[in-house]
Amino acid sequence: MTFEAMWRDLVPVGRSARTGGYARLPFAAAERECHAWFLEQCRARGLEVEGDGNGNVVAWWRPEGSRGGGVVTGSHLDSVPDGGAYDGPLGVVSALAALDVLRDRGFVPTRPLGVAVFVEEEGSRFGIACLGSRLATGTLSATQAQELRDRDGTALLDAMAAAGLEPSLGPSALLDGIGCFVELHVEQGRDLVHRGAAVGVASAIRPHGRYRFDFAGEANHAGTTSMADRRDPMLTYAATVLAAREQAGRTEARATFGRLDVHPGGTNAVPSRVTAWLDARAGSEEELRALVGEVERRATGHAAVDGTAVTVTAESVSPEVRFDGELAARIAEGLGGVPVVPTMAGHDAGVLSAAGVPTAMLFVRNPTGVSHSPAEHAEVEDCLAGVTALADTLGRLAG
Ligand code: GLV
Ligand code: MN
Ligand code: MN
Repeated sequence: MTFEAMWRDLVPVGRSARTGGYARLPFAAAERECHAWFLEQCRARGLEVEGDGNGNVVAWWRPEGSRGGGVVTGSHLDSVPDGGAYDGPLGVVSALAALDVLRDRGFVPTRPLGVAVFVEEEGSRFGIACLGSRLATGTLSATQAQELRDRDGTALLDAMAAAGLEPSLGPSALLDGIGCFVELHVEQGRDLVHRGAAVGVASAIRPHGRYRFDFAGEANHAGTTSMADRRDPMLTYAATVLAAREQAGRTEARATFGRLDVHPGGTNAVPSRVTAWLDARAGSEEELRALVGEVERRATGHAAVDGTAVTVTAESVSPEVRFDGELAARIAEGLGGVPVVPTMAGHDAGVLSAAGVPTAMLFVRNPTGVSHSPAEHAEVEDCLAGVTALADTLGRLAG
């Protein structure tokens, strides 16, 4: 099956007729349909599928005589709310297509070759980014994961069981078989556009984190409560958004409040509580700590003036990842000297790299750079260039 035919299979799954964006929440219907499609593709290729108790899978091509640490590629099939088609699935479909290219070339790997799918990479249902790979590597403990609930209050274990899985959270034996990991991903920026390259290699992932801000105030009547008598947590929240914007703008850092929960949520009531999530990213860990610390300091200052209170909880923090420089250089050179670029986006590849797995990433040009949006895009010629680059890379690593 060609790349284009596989892509066509996935395009309708979980797509909103209204926005064109995707809702592929982990362990819910659309993501499970993509997962079932993936397993079917693996069966059709005679791959040996191994899963773990976290919901991650690796499908192996283990020709007779192949031995040693597996060369694994892949990505994820879940999306952010109203996300794009490419973030995640491009890496999975390209992995299957690259394997087909290698087989068509008559290539037989001397090391096992695997295609991986990690669950809940976006953290859009249970809040923790790269949940599957964090659990598999032991970066997140099973005890912490068992406490996770989605927005409807469903526990992670219950969501997994409802999807027909038999969860057993924790470090995964799948990792034992992975000698190195290469994730192909749509670029989430325009570095490759500016450099005129269809494909690039990642050098680093900048440090980033997610922080929950709980603003507490006093519920009251929107009409009868004078402005002076209010203890309005929305006001403190609004001032905090502006502070974050201003603070991040001083450097090349990023600060985003993209999710908000207002209680009780009445148009004619001052809220009693506002919960908001800050996504912060920066050029260095020190800069990230300084950014978040300053936003918290300013939020606390505003709370004192507004008669509210604020508490900040770091829900997940990812330190800077510098991919294996020698491996990145070797891959880039093997591809004819493609650019090597850093990214501000998080990936399972970053989690595996931080856990000591030799890891690399390939990026495929995104003409607008837009991502985490229905407008996310990559031209088919660039996707095919990505497949060839991935096949070449896997061939060299597993040859
Ligand atoms: C993952 O896409 C992230 O960087 O949030
Ligand atoms: Mn993403
Ligand atoms: Mn992704």
